[in-house]
Amino acid sequence: MIAAYDALMARIVAASEADAILVGDSVAMVVHGFPSTIHATTEMMCTHVAAVRRGAPEMVVIADMPFLAARRGVAAATDAAGALMQAGATAVKIEGVMGHQDAISHLVESGIPVMGHLGLTPQSVHQLGGYRVQGREPRAAARLREDARMIEEVGAFSLVLECVPAALAATITEERAIPTIGIGAGPSTAGQVLVLADLLGLDPRFQPRFARRYLEGHETVRDAINRFARDVRTADFPTPAEVLA
Ligand code: KIV
Repeated sequence: MIAAYDALMARIVAASEADAILVGDSVAMVVHGFPSTIHATTEMMCTHVAAVRRGAPEMVVIADMPFLAARRGVAAATDAAGALMQAGATAVKIEGVMGHQDAISHLVESGIPVMGHLGLTPQSVHQLGGYRVQGREPRAAARLREDARMIEEVGAFSLVLECVPAALAATITEERAIPTIGIGAGPSTAGQVLVLADLLGLDPRFQPRFARRYLEGHETVRDAINRFARDVRTADFPTPAEVLA
């Protein structure tokens, strides 16, 4: 699964061998420059879901429910999920489970596929004390296993595990019938997800160890822009062939 946010990138993902696009609320940080995903809104998510859907009409597109959207009761969660589905999502992803099991069950019973998300849940970054590995202590690991059980029980079709020890991710994957998708969770999850901007190496300020870079995107794009700027300054661009008659 690839996290992407616009039609241009969605078109590239659709032409690739990836299985699904996640319109993650990381869009608030990667595209909009906010310091956390807390700044994503339903309106922002819908705009990006619609753009991704236009770029990838046939793909599975999973949309993040934004900060607190599942915590204001079943009706508010239904409104937010309904807006994301009408914008073009195939499914929604919801962080955590305790305290909003009823909202998840209701969405599932309403025909909306729900993906869970446990471990480092970035919308809770201030409570977690930063972006750190979750579930290292035995009690925290037991709690994560219980949360995973509950997510399956309330009807989620899949579960993202973010930044948890590889052994714990392997245990949860083995215990649960629904497929797990890992990010910073080792090799044993059923699938993996990366943010496209990380995979492409577009942001030199953010290079976590778990996110393998398949391109030095920042340098590649910067060098292309530099070549353009130099060609303009030396009058090598445009050439007669690039001039419209
Ligand atoms: O918002 C996001 O991109 C995500 C992935 C990192 C799993 O939730």
